[in-house]
Amino acid sequence: MLELREMPPQAQPYSHGVEQFRSRIQARTAKVGIVGLGYVGLPLALLFSEERFPVTGFDIDAEKVRTLNNSGSYIYRIPKTEIAAARTQGFCATDDYSRVTEMDAVIICVPTPLDEYREPDLSYIRVTAQAIAPHLHDGQLIILESTTYPGTTQEVLVPILEAGNKAGLKAASGTDSAGTFLAAFSPEREDPGNDTVARRDIPKVVGGLSPAASELAGALYNSIFNRVVPVSSPAVAEMTKLLENIYRCVNIAMVNELKLLCLRMGIDIWEVIQAASTKPFGFHPFYPGPGLGGHCIPVDPYYLSWKAKEWDFQTRFIELAGEINTSMPYHVVNSVASALNKQKKALNGSRVLVLGVAYKRDIDDLRESPSLTIIEELQKNGAEVFYNDPYFPKVGRGRKYNLQMTCTPLENLGQYDCVLIVTDHSDYPYQRIVDEAQLVVDTRNATKGIRSGKIVHC
Ligand SMILES: NC(=O)c1ccc[n+]([C@@H]2O[C@H](COP(=O)([O-])OP(=O)(O)OC[C@H]3O[C@@H](n4cnc5c(N)ncnc54)[C@H](O)[C@@H]3O)[C@@H](O)[C@H]2O)c1
Repeated sequence: MLELREMPPQAQPYSHGVEQFRSRIQARTAKVGIVGLGYVGLPLALLFSEERFPVTGFDIDAEKVRTLNNSGSYIYRIPKTEIAAARTQGFCATDDYSRVTEMDAVIICVPTPLDEYREPDLSYIRVTAQAIAPHLHDGQLIILESTTYPGTTQEVLVPILEAGNKAGLKAASGTDSAGTFLAAFSPEREDPGNDTVARRDIPKVVGGLSPAASELAGALYNSIFNRVVPVSSPAVAEMTKLLENIYRCVNIAMVNELKLLCLRMGIDIWEVIQAASTKPFGFHPFYPGPGLGGHCIPVDPYYLSWKAKEWDFQTRFIELAGEINTSMPYHVVNSVASALNKQKKALNGSRVLVLGVAYKRDIDDLRESPSLTIIEELQKNGAEVFYNDPYFPKVGRGRKYNLQMTCTPLENLGQYDCVLIVTDHSDYPYQRIVDEAQLVVDTRNATKGIRSGKIVHC
């Protein structure tokens, strides 16, 4: 795909305002506002700040704003020193939306969850757009990064921005002109906990609503990412993100289903995947687990299946993958019951220690974590459940659960009828866990290489 710096000269010229904007990007004087300072927005703000841009973060969470302005951090993998360095560079956080008017570019990174009927909940995007709209100015660049269905930028974000600004500004769609703002979509592609690729090396897909929006959004991102991939519209960029996540969701479901078959056939699925991975072409390994977690893979595909209905279209792969992946935590609970049964014990009344509540290894994020469903189901079946997770001293109330539990120390493991490995954090001493436990149920192949009759893979 064509890189932005290679864009042909005929894509220009743009108006004077656009040229000035481009110069401010080059001079690092363009003011960047990041709305939503969570797992996506905060690292992005820090990247711009590292590159010497004046950055203002906007968040409705007063505690986060206070923490950042005091050079503190609330994300485990972002050390305070990084926030302090950004503060020295001029970064500040605020909940005052009137400061949007000072910004040259505003990048929106607010949540896009599912509602209780598993339908897209765009309320965060809507509320953010309503808050930004009164402070829009001519030539301002508004970029949406929140994952969403194709059409959101043009059909949801832009109309709210147009209706809510007193100056009557419209989104530029053809050539830019006075009385317009610029709108674009650029998906976030972070993989939390994956340190093998530097953030700057992750290519940034950008789709603008107009040539000027594409050009300026591309130029802005080009200053912090090593490669920008321009696409022809916001909808293409929105769909690109969904394709990436649906690809993962469907492949994980396939391998989860094959794991269930392999368990029945007495074949080690992990050994199979390892062997298949030696194929130098046409195979990419995906791994089975206790169910999907995180803010993306269990959620995003349903944004597309919901939108597809508008076009009388059923996204059957997404539905089937969802069915299989959603059933995995229940399979884990059944496996614990069956493993205890072999020891002539009932799940009802057994003491079960769950290792790991984060949705994946070595991160401090438990959104949509399968552990939460597993703990609830174990409790419903009468088990006395404890958990250990170095990243979570407590688990309280979330959107769908209310556990109110405190982390149990990883000691005296013989007291539990079963130790259940749900998240394979790297720091766990697996050999000691197996040595001390009465029974270990392993959902992640974390005990690979340890030989013991106490281990049950599921
Ligand atoms: N976390 C990831 O790994 C990841 C990866 C790719 C894409 N995404 C997408 O990025 C988006 C953001 O995800 P996240 O993980 O950063 O969420 P998050 O919950 O960690 O952060 C969202 C932030 O937005 C703030 N917020 C909510 N409403 C606001 C408003 N009206 N004005 C200002 N701030 C507001 C919240 O207080 C919070 O700090 C989502 O669409 C998500 O699907 C996330």
